[in-house]
Amino acid sequence: MIQQIQQSILQMKEENNIFLLAHSYQNKDITEIADFVGDSFQMSLAAQHTDADTILVAGVRFMAETAKILAPDKTVVLVTPDAGCPMAEQIEPSMIESIKAQHPEYKVVAYINTTAALKAVCDVCVTSSTAVKIVKALEEEEILFIPDCNLGTYVQKQVPEKKLKLLQGCCPVHASVDMMEVETALEKHPKAQLLVHPECTPEVLQYADYIGSTSGILEYAKQSDHKEFVIGTEISIAEHLQYACPDKTFYLLSKKLICPNMKLTTLMDVYNAMRGQGGEEIIMTPEEIAKARICIDEMIRLGK
Ligand code: 13P
Ligand code: SF4
Repeated sequence: MIQQIQQSILQMKEENNIFLLAHSYQNKDITEIADFVGDSFQMSLAAQHTDADTILVAGVRFMAETAKILAPDKTVVLVTPDAGCPMAEQIEPSMIESIKAQHPEYKVVAYINTTAALKAVCDVCVTSSTAVKIVKALEEEEILFIPDCNLGTYVQKQVPEKKLKLLQGCCPVHASVDMMEVETALEKHPKAQLLVHPECTPEVLQYADYIGSTSGILEYAKQSDHKEFVIGTEISIAEHLQYACPDKTFYLLSKKLICPNMKLTTLMDVYNAMRGQGGEEIIMTPEEIAKARICIDEMIRLGK
């Protein structure tokens, strides 16, 4: 049944020149038929470079908005309209504007997990795989880093020459991991390496053998000579790794590491969106696109 649905999707993709762009948190039945699977930075580059007429995004809303901003002449469809990222909604653009009015010296760095309206009032975007490199490359010393204070704290440690001002945003999924879970996992699996996403808290990160984006964690585990790993990011990454590396063993750091928004999208949703039933076309005015694009273009220039 699954294979039949996948087959129909592949056929529709071909016939209608549709590019299926998936985040690596999507389930395997989707990632194995997607045209591109990656972290949020890699997804941005893929959206920019495809020559398909339509981009279908299996992920969350800010990823589809980013694709539209980078490929404004294409039809961009978010497979599951309800799939948002709560962190993207945590800060209002007006709050940033008022901080900027009081502190014109701040360079405003926005995690890509933000709305297009918030990006429009920021100077440069970053992703988890590019944040350290981009912050290091900025000329300014004083930086307002929004919204994720955990990623911001991690970046501050890697780039001590800059002064980062942080707000209180975070990913509710990664930030839910507590120290008891870290201690239990390390006690139970003493030979395992701990691989963690920088959206986890600084307390958790201090025990990590590797800290990186979703694709960074995937690559590290595939290349490593170690045989056991505790994975500190969304459950799907441990699942993908277990398929890709059957000779290695992957444990989940916490049972809470399930992103309900990423999990909303099913293979059937992709099938229906391909047929034009379900899914939501991302509509933005040329002005909205132009304003938000400035900081995404800066991210690509400095992050590549
Ligand atoms: P990545 O850039 O690592 O893919 O992160 C996106 C995300 O939402 C992690 O929770
Ligand atoms: Fe947003 Fe966290 Fe889900 Fe990533 S895991 S999409 S940051 S809620």
